[in-house]
Amino acid sequence: MQRLIPVLNKDHVSLHLISVINTLLTAAKEISHRLHQGSLAGTLGSTLDENIQGETQKKLDIVSNQLIKNMLLETQLVRAVASEEEDDIVEGNPDAKYLVAYDPLDGSSNIDINGSVGTIFTILEVPDHPAEGKELFLQTGDEQVAAGYILYGPSTMLVMTTGSGVRMYTLDHTVGEFLLTVEDVSIVKDTQEFGINMANQRFWSKPMSQYIGDLIAGEEGPRGKRFNMRWNAAMVADVHRLLCRGGIFTYPADCRNPAKPCKLRLLYEAMPMSFLVEQAGGRSSTGYERIMSLQPTDIHQRVSVIMGSANEVSTCLQYHKDVPCERFDG
Ligand code: F6P
Ligand code: MN
Repeated sequence: MQRLIPVLNKDHVSLHLISVINTLLTAAKEISHRLHQGSLAGTLGSTLDENIQGETQKKLDIVSNQLIKNMLLETQLVRAVASEEEDDIVEGNPDAKYLVAYDPLDGSSNIDINGSVGTIFTILEVPDHPAEGKELFLQTGDEQVAAGYILYGPSTMLVMTTGSGVRMYTLDHTVGEFLLTVEDVSIVKDTQEFGINMANQRFWSKPMSQYIGDLIAGEEGPRGKRFNMRWNAAMVADVHRLLCRGGIFTYPADCRNPAKPCKLRLLYEAMPMSFLVEQAGGRSSTGYERIMSLQPTDIHQRVSVIMGSANEVSTCLQYHKDVPCERFDG
């Protein structure tokens, strides 16, 4: 089985970019180790407790953020990082070329139930035009040079694209390396699986209510077939499923909290996942616009997400076609 670095070399990924990716993965291996240790590592729980030695325990999402941030900035190859766990960007080497945005531990409510969680990342280059601070990161998804996630499940997997397809790697704990296990990820065009938090049903927009209603109607409904529902409460695990066997995943805008119509973050959740999905032949949209084309206005901006099997996403978008996007535009 091939190791990651020779694969990236073959794709002509620059040495500096490989080094940034490799650093992220070093942090991911440490996170994976701590997750596997579970309660034994003293990093579970949701408060700043003390462990038996009287040391302060930190939540694993905070620990993960610090590991990734410190390791990336130490490389001197990174101009700045943006993280879900940081209000503002953190500056690194002012002369460096790369920007990394990440969600250190996606689906972190799963930690305490020994469920799947993940790290999502996107890597951008410093733009050509003059930009400072947060503005550096305000680039469209099409400008990403690499993106992916590490899924901490029964096995730890890296799923990544540098713009020439999607590959999956599995962490071999015995040698501490990610080995290529799926060469060319391709999402099947049609599916009978959908993922959505049904508890929000009464807050959805009309097009989404109608679309999901038609899926649930099964053989007797307009779609004429039965659909299954799957929901992990961790985007990494749900997107991983659709990359492996097709599906549609959505976290649509809703009117539950008018100040926050959308849940998922554009920069370090929707954008990298959309890059993967499109590179694997799938589709990704807000319902009204291609996510990869959106111009971000803030690093923590939220967005409505519909992604997965191309034909199924297209069907869902048909429901949105003639209905204006009203208040649900995130
Ligand atoms: O990061 C946000 C997130 O945890 C995603 O990973 C996941 O898809 C979603 O929120 C789960 O939302 P809910 O708690 O509504 O099920
Ligand atoms: Mn997340």
